[in-house]
Amino acid sequence: MQEVQANSLEEEKICNKRRRIEYEFSLGTRWTHWIRAFAIFVLTFTGFYLAYVFISPNPSDVPIGFLNAEFRMWHEIFGFVLIAVSLFKGYLFFIDKESRKERVAFWDVVNPIIWAKQIRYYLFLGEHPHLRGAYNPLQFVAYIGLYVMVFIICLTGVMLYVHVYHDGLGALLYPLMRPLEVMMGGLSMVRQIHHITMWGILLFVPVHIYMAIFNSIMGREGAIDAIVSGYKFGKPNCKKKKKKK
Ligand code: HEM
Repeated sequence: MQEVQANSLEEEKICNKRRRIEYEFSLGTRWTHWIRAFAIFVLTFTGFYLAYVFISPNPSDVPIGFLNAEFRMWHEIFGFVLIAVSLFKGYLFFIDKESRKERVAFWDVVNPIIWAKQIRYYLFLGEHPHLRGAYNPLQFVAYIGLYVMVFIICLTGVMLYVHVYHDGLGALLYPLMRPLEVMMGGLSMVRQIHHITMWGILLFVPVHIYMAIFNSIMGREGAIDAIVSGYKFGKPNCKKKKKKK
């Protein structure tokens, strides 16, 4: 019995040694991921403050404690960072050669067999399906949802921005944003949509982290490593060894 166990352990070691590393995410994809994650963190913190002022400035005789303006400034700075990075990510996704693996994942989304297999896998009823791209169909659809929310929050953010800064970009975008604001039912409504969308994003984040950890543990391919280093491990390949014997 012990001998059998030792043999299978030895075999597993050999299989793992044979695993090749695979290039999964380009530098651009990784940087845009982490910059957006940080921007969302800052925007949520400052956004909560703007919605409900929970810190007061140090008392002072002179009017220098413009804490609200400071929070709003950081909110707007990171707001434009989020907009810029999301636009760049859009460019990478559609145009960049290295993002091909992300694009081809779309073909699994329109394949009902892959959907069925993926759901069976998540219910612990079957093996993980072989995927064409970097994402499984559920993941891909969840990311589309996230991008829709990012689009809405950025658009409503700019609509709010043109009312708090009236020079430069604010002045340029004002005539473009005003009709949209009217269509949405007024500034108060825009603010509410902006706020509610934040909660949509906040629901996405823990599910995303849970699924990343789940896939990393269950898939044993270093799924989380890939968004840090760019590389993941290929599947263990034991067949070759048996043939050689
Ligand atoms: C994940 C991204 C974002 C989150 C979580 C977020 C969150 C929030 C929240 C909660 C508020 C307060 C709304 C309320 O009063 O109920 C707010 C206000 C605001 N946001 Fe955002 N926001 C985001 C992105 C943006 C972007 C991209 C911009 C564009 C520059 C932006 C610009 C603004 C402005 C100008 C205000 C109003 C500030 C004020 O009234 O003083 N936000 N945001």
